[in-house]
Amino acid sequence: MSPQSLLLTIVVLQSCFMHGFVYPSSITPLSLETLAKMPLPPKTSSVPFLNESAAPAPCPRSCSRLPPLPPRSPTFPLPPPPPRLPGRLKPRQPPNNPGPLSSQNSVLFITQELKRNITSDPNNYTASWVGNNYCLFKGYYCDIVPDKNITGLIAVNFNGANFRGNLNFYRYIRFLPDICIFHVNSNNFSGLIFPNINKLRFFFELDLSNNGFSGSFPVSLIGSRQLTFVDLRFNTFSGPVPPQLFNLDVDVIFINNNGFTQTIPSTFGNTPALYITLANNRFTGPIPQTIYYNRKTLIEVLFLGNRLTGCLPYEIGYLNLSHVFDVSFNRLTGPIPESFGCMARMQFLNLAHNKFYGPIPESLCMLPRAYNFTLSNNYFTQVGPQCRRLIRLGTLDVRKNCIFGLRGQRNPRTCAAFFSRARTCPRPEEFSLVPCTLPLTTASELPMSESRFTTPPSPRTYAALEKPRH
Ligand SMILES: *[C@@H]1O[C@H](CO)[C@@H](O)[C@H](O)[C@H]1NC(C)=O
Ligand SMILES: *[C@@H]1O[C@H](CO)[C@@H](O)[C@H](O)[C@H]1NC(C)=O
Ligand SMILES: *[C@@H]1O[C@H](CO)[C@@H](O)[C@H](O)[C@H]1NC(C)=O
Ligand SMILES: *[C@@H]1O[C@H](CO)[C@@H](O)[C@H](O)[C@H]1NC(C)=O
Ligand SMILES: *[C@@H]1O[C@H](CO)[C@@H](O)[C@H](O)[C@H]1NC(C)=O
Ligand SMILES: *[C@@H]1O[C@H](CO)[C@@H](O)[C@H](O)[C@H]1NC(C)=O
Ligand SMILES: *[C@@H]1O[C@H](CO)[C@@H](O)[C@H](O)[C@H]1NC(C)=O
Repeated sequence: MSPQSLLLTIVVLQSCFMHGFVYPSSITPLSLETLAKMPLPPKTSSVPFLNESAAPAPCPRSCSRLPPLPPRSPTFPLPPPPPRLPGRLKPRQPPNNPGPLSSQNSVLFITQELKRNITSDPNNYTASWVGNNYCLFKGYYCDIVPDKNITGLIAVNFNGANFRGNLNFYRYIRFLPDICIFHVNSNNFSGLIFPNINKLRFFFELDLSNNGFSGSFPVSLIGSRQLTFVDLRFNTFSGPVPPQLFNLDVDVIFINNNGFTQTIPSTFGNTPALYITLANNRFTGPIPQTIYYNRKTLIEVLFLGNRLTGCLPYEIGYLNLSHVFDVSFNRLTGPIPESFGCMARMQFLNLAHNKFYGPIPESLCMLPRAYNFTLSNNYFTQVGPQCRRLIRLGTLDVRKNCIFGLRGQRNPRTCAAFFSRARTCPRPEEFSLVPCTLPLTTASELPMSESRFTTPPSPRTYAALEKPRH
């Protein structure tokens, strides 16, 4: 390529980025011979394409015309909200003389029954469960119950108590009518969760993670309008997730490491949750297009380790507040939508171990906060100079793909076999749609060395993939 034509290519490229144009992403099957004949990428990183004639045509005007948004899913009627608490209650230690106690007989009765059922109590909780003032019991927290104006048991925290025995969650909690916060992770609670948990008028934090719960999703939770925190991780729940889950006004949905099945309901778009992990279940089907509606709230989302299929909806590109997006270890396919270049805050992107193919959009590699982008173990075919820059910086991992000329790629035969089958996605035209002005960063602002990177805080959702430990 002559210096002039190289310059021209770069000018065309830059002006297209300015106008939101990105490479065509339709991929035609390649034969082994074609793959073998493909020239190696040039050593200098300034030539973005495998050959000059593959450089993009001038921006089509249609780039700016976006299709209609996916329809919003219906919301479901919820029960009327219970009386509101004054802000978010923090459990506080009991006053020494609490005066009359709310539901005293009921709380004392069930506490003694639980105590009899606990066969192992390594941290000596039950030793303190004596006398009539339950506010002094280890693990119990009291405060004024708003609609009674007397002291009551508002929080139970047995996180990490390591109780062993046959502990029946539902039977226990229905004797605690004033409860707001119930944290019992890593104990041996089990038992069905029956419908009228919503009789618990103030319930807003439920952490049942890492216990022995099984059966279908505890639909009765849905009636608990106050919940802000749903943590059911590390149990053996199974079956579908009810669509109503995503209508709850919660901040956190952690349901990873269970056996949930079937598709992700399209109500997913209704959830205002900031942190969501559906990881390590057996969900099938595609990521719902309604994810568009999560754009104003969603910060971290993990879909990893399921059986998701289909192509990535371009609506994901609207998630410009998200820091973490992980769909690794699924059965997803298709190209990366060019809209991914709009995910302005993306730090941790993981698409590894799927069947994605096509060129990696340069706009993705120009995201200003890119920290760890893992695209390995797919069938991607091209990287341009910006992506090569990220590879050199150790920010982008493209190992085990079909990018000829790069080290650590798949065997050409494996690639040819993959591309010998025609592969298509529904709505192929959407892969080149860009709902923002690209690039988000100009080349001169891009970091050239590791020193520009500061380590972002560890994602909360990744921490949720570890069993809770205390
Ligand atoms: C260059 O790319 C064009 C279009 O993709 C293709 O038709 C042509 O064969 C390529 N040339 C070489 C030398 O690979
Ligand atoms: C619990 O109490 C027993 C004796 O009552 C004592 O030996 C043990 O160290 C205590 N354990 C803890 C964790 O306090
Ligand atoms: C709650 O009870 C205290 C005395 O126990 C009383 O002074 C106060 O006015 C009561 N508040 C309400 C809202 O009833
Ligand atoms: C946990 O609870 C189950 C019943 O739900 C019981 O069979 C099992 O023995 C308990 N495990 C321990 C370690 O106590
Ligand atoms: C205690 O154990 C009995 C017998 O297994 C069981 O029926 C009951 O539900 C348990 N109660 C609690 C609070 O765990
Ligand atoms: C996200 O996109 C919206 C328009 O959809 C825009 O108004 C907003 O400034 C963008 N935020 C960031 C952080 O880029
Ligand atoms: C990037 O993320 C992947 C997948 O989570 C992880 O295996 C890898 O260690 C991370 N790399 C760095 C440099 O943090």
